[in-house]
Amino acid sequence: MLTEIARAKLNLALHVRARRPDGYHELETLFAFVEQGDVLRLAPADTPRFRVTGPFAAALAGEGDNLVTRAAARFAESFGGGAHAIELEKHLPVASGIGGGSADAAAALRALARLHIVPLDDPGLFAIADALGSDVPACLLGKTAIGKGRGEQLQPVTGMPGTPVLLVNPGVAVSTAEVFRRWDGVDRGPLGGDPLAGRNDLEAPALAIAPVIGEVLAALAAQPGVTLARMSGSGATCFALFETVEACAAAAVAVARPGWWSAETRLV
Ligand code: C5P
Repeated sequence: MLTEIARAKLNLALHVRARRPDGYHELETLFAFVEQGDVLRLAPADTPRFRVTGPFAAALAGEGDNLVTRAAARFAESFGGGAHAIELEKHLPVASGIGGGSADAAAALRALARLHIVPLDDPGLFAIADALGSDVPACLLGKTAIGKGRGEQLQPVTGMPGTPVLLVNPGVAVSTAEVFRRWDGVDRGPLGGDPLAGRNDLEAPALAIAPVIGEVLAALAAQPGVTLARMSGSGATCFALFETVEACAAAAVAVARPGWWSAETRLV
C-alpha cells in the first residue's frame, strides 16, 4: 500500500493574458502548494477498484468519470502495471479553485510511478498529466513554480515554505469554464518581478457568478497580520497569507460563518 498526499494547489497570482483559438486561455500564474490535502492510497489488485471516503466524499458520489480513474487508465496504457485498488480520502472541497481533482490525479500518477519504478520526471508521466487537465502537470511537480501557456509550461522558483495560510471556501461550487467565459478579454499585463504584487484576473468574473466571494475576500483582508488575501484559481476558495501562526489561527475564528469551510495550513 502506497500513500500520497494530494496537496491543495494555490495560484498566488493568476494573470489571464489572452483567449486562444482552442478555447483555452493563455495564463501567467504562480503556483504554490500547502500541507493540507486529500489522501490517496493505492495497492495492486486483481480488478480495478476505486472508492472515495472522507468529509467531501459525497460531492464526488456517482461520478463514474473521476480524474483519478482516468489517470490510472492512462498510466496502464503507457506503462502497464495491471489493476489497482485506490482509496481517495477527500478533505478538500470539490470544484473550488484549489486543484482538488487535479491534485488527486497527480497523486495517483506519483503513487503508480513509485510502485512501477517510473522516474517522477518521466516525460510520459507529464504527457498524461497534461492530457488530464491544465493544472495536473503543476500538481505532479508539486513545487512553487511559474506556469505559462494553459498552466502546463512550468518553471520552478523559490517559494516561501512555512508561511501560515488560511483557506476559506464559502460553500459554493463555481464552474471553471464559466468563469473563464466571463473574463472581459482585457490583458492587464504580465507577472512582475514580485508575483505577490500581482492579481487574480478571475476574481471579477467569479464574483459576478458568486458575489459571496467578495465577502470572503473582504473578511480575510481585514484580519490583523494578513500579508495577502486573494482568490485561488477560478474560485470560490480564497486564501490569506499571515505573518504568524497565531494571527492565522485568530483569523480562522474571526472569519468563520455557517456553511463556510476553512483550513489552517502552511505553504510547502
Ligand atoms: O484544463 P481543464 O480541463 O482543467 O480546464 C477546465 C476548463 O477551464 C477548460 O475547459 C476551459 O474552459 C477553462 N480553462 C481555460 N484556460 C486555461 C485553463 C482552463 O479557458 N488555461
